[in-house]
Amino acid sequence: MLFVQNKTKNSVFDKENARVKGGVMMNIAIFGGTMDPFHCGHLQIVEHLCDLFDLVLLVPNNVSPFKGEELLVDKEIRYQMLCLQVERMRAQNAQRGDKICIERCEMDREPPSYTIDTLLYLKKKHPKDGLYLCLGSDAYEGFAGWKDSQKILELCNLLLVPRQGASVDCEGVPVFEGGHQKLSKLGVPILQVSSSEARVDIAFGCFDKLPPVIAKSIQEQNLYADYAGIVKQYPSYGLSEGRIGHIHRVAQTALQIALNVHGVVRHKVVMAALLHDIAKRTPQAQIVLTKQQEKFLLALSPNIVHAFLGAEIAQQKFGVSDLDVLNAIRHHTTGRAEMSDLEKIIYLADMVEPRRTMPGVESVRDLALNGRLDEAMCIGLGQTIDNLRMRGEKIDARTTQAYAHFQRLTQAK
Ligand SMILES: [Fe+2]
Ligand SMILES: [Fe+2]
Repeated sequence: MLFVQNKTKNSVFDKENARVKGGVMMNIAIFGGTMDPFHCGHLQIVEHLCDLFDLVLLVPNNVSPFKGEELLVDKEIRYQMLCLQVERMRAQNAQRGDKICIERCEMDREPPSYTIDTLLYLKKKHPKDGLYLCLGSDAYEGFAGWKDSQKILELCNLLLVPRQGASVDCEGVPVFEGGHQKLSKLGVPILQVSSSEARVDIAFGCFDKLPPVIAKSIQEQNLYADYAGIVKQYPSYGLSEGRIGHIHRVAQTALQIALNVHGVVRHKVVMAALLHDIAKRTPQAQIVLTKQQEKFLLALSPNIVHAFLGAEIAQQKFGVSDLDVLNAIRHHTTGRAEMSDLEKIIYLADMVEPRRTMPGVESVRDLALNGRLDEAMCIGLGQTIDNLRMRGEKIDARTTQAYAHFQRLTQAK
């Protein structure tokens, strides 16, 4: 195990070895994840763990086999930032900070990285201690499908970190109070932040979801710059401050909806959200269109042209080639029958982002944030059609087809 530099005199290294050598059993919390980046939600959990456990092992992942998307920052840079954060915690509160160790075992293993391998390694190092694996309640939902899940349970106890909106029921799970509990949960409310949301914020120049040390390090090294590269181009596409704020909120809302939708790649959610209104103020002439495309756009209502044009801009100017992302941009105003989950997420996020106040939006927002996408689509499309009728505006055929589709689907359930 490697430890952070500049250890204080009574470092956890000495304490840990003394206790293990002396045969005294410790309760050890294992907190893993990509920590890409380490955010205020992580910090809050780690502080609670320090109050409850003798030792807290932070285990940054190399690549998570479940994420299916590339990490945005190199593992060594993530490790260095984590070291800086732990140093800061030690300086601020030695009682807590001295209990924290950074464990490199997953980083130094070739991916894919499996929890069972980490636990076998840690059990060998801490044979007499009680190991407690921290799991988000959302991750616990899929735990049975993990490699050697039964063996994991033989090697350690599970400590659930309740997450708002996760369908797994933590109600009956006892709160951890020390001692030996095979399944328990943290009994404190945890800040609901995700690394994906923090990365989106960074692109918009907002760092308040990050501990100051991490924020400073990200700014100094210009990390997570890919999304910022898109945001920087908004003014050249004529987007106002108000529109940019809307896009920021749509991206955050889309990520929150995606939390309860299995199998959606968050990077695609962000790309579609960041580009969904890119053409809101762009004259058609700025990009190359075929005669057929021009004819197609001319036949559309003016308020939906930007969605179809936006998909072309995303492809031609931002190099987006993923069909699902392009379709999510293309159909974010009209919807269509047979939408993918990504398309539904972007459509709904655009409709229910926090500043939207039209009548009935709360019920659509609740359904969407609880992962009930088809019901949310059905009600949302119905409201859109009613509004368009009231204003005497043309209703696109894709919208009526989508509404009929989601009505059939939800009635059949
Ligand atoms: Fe739009
Ligand atoms: Fe929008």
